[in-house]
Amino acid sequence: MILLDGKELASKIKAEIAKEVAEMIDNGQRAPHLAAVLVGENPASQTYVASKEKNSREVGIISSVYRYPETIKEKELLEVVDFLNLDHDVDGFIVQLPLPKHINEQKIIERISPSKDVDGFHPENLGRMMLGIPTLLPATPMGILTLLERYQIETAGKHCVVLGRSHIVGTPVSILLSRKASPGNCTVTLCHSFTGNIPGITREADILIVAMGRKHFVTREMVKKGAVVIDVGMHRITDDSKKSGFRLTGDVDFDQVAGKCSYITPVPGGVGPMTIVSLLQNTLKAGTTGQADKRTSGQADKR
Ligand code: GUN
Repeated sequence: MILLDGKELASKIKAEIAKEVAEMIDNGQRAPHLAAVLVGENPASQTYVASKEKNSREVGIISSVYRYPETIKEKELLEVVDFLNLDHDVDGFIVQLPLPKHINEQKIIERISPSKDVDGFHPENLGRMMLGIPTLLPATPMGILTLLERYQIETAGKHCVVLGRSHIVGTPVSILLSRKASPGNCTVTLCHSFTGNIPGITREADILIVAMGRKHFVTREMVKKGAVVIDVGMHRITDDSKKSGFRLTGDVDFDQVAGKCSYITPVPGGVGPMTIVSLLQNTLKAGTTGQADKRTSGQADKR
């Protein structure tokens, strides 16, 4: 069994990003700028945003956070999005989810300029993804593809089973792996709450991607010998031996399953760091294309 070490790979990719950012600055451009909008006090959201800030700074990406109380009105949040869409000093931004119940998340996402949508959640970017047109891809699915690619795991012709059909992970990763591309060319089965006999399906998986948000759902009997297992789950469990009083675990029962796989991601240190690094890659992409557009727009006007 080979551990898919997302932490190690992410730090390697971060060094590559840092080099590109340094080159941009040497060429007289400014560093890319990622902004995050954080509404309310959700502890998980606060942790994610703090991590995005820290990782951005480590590679030289400018980071800013716009914090608002839980009581912000939908109209006001739409105005924040409009402001960031127009701010030439911001290349890309995310609105951390979930949002409070009185705010329509989809309406907020659809207001984000697709060229600044570094989460890849805007319908235009998701449509381009579906058609195989280059675009900003959702960070977690993109991180999973990067893991498969960098570990040189063959995906063509493989049966990939995805558990969970969220808009953030399950649905986009199932589309990406079925595309005519590399990584891709998989036969994909997407399982969800209405799927019967999930263990019967997962046992047929060459690649099993688990993103259903249920702690240790995948057990040893559910996995084919030699399968590649990608665990997107993240749960806190009490652990008195830790200073924090808890440790993180996934949707897969790692101790049971690891010995049966060819490759497996740990939790923590698997998909999580790859999600963040994908967001940084998207910000770099938005920064380079955005600044290039601004440089050529004057000429375009003359043509
Ligand atoms: N909440 C959980 N995951 C994500 C993510 O990838 N992006 C945003 N914006 N919110 C999230």
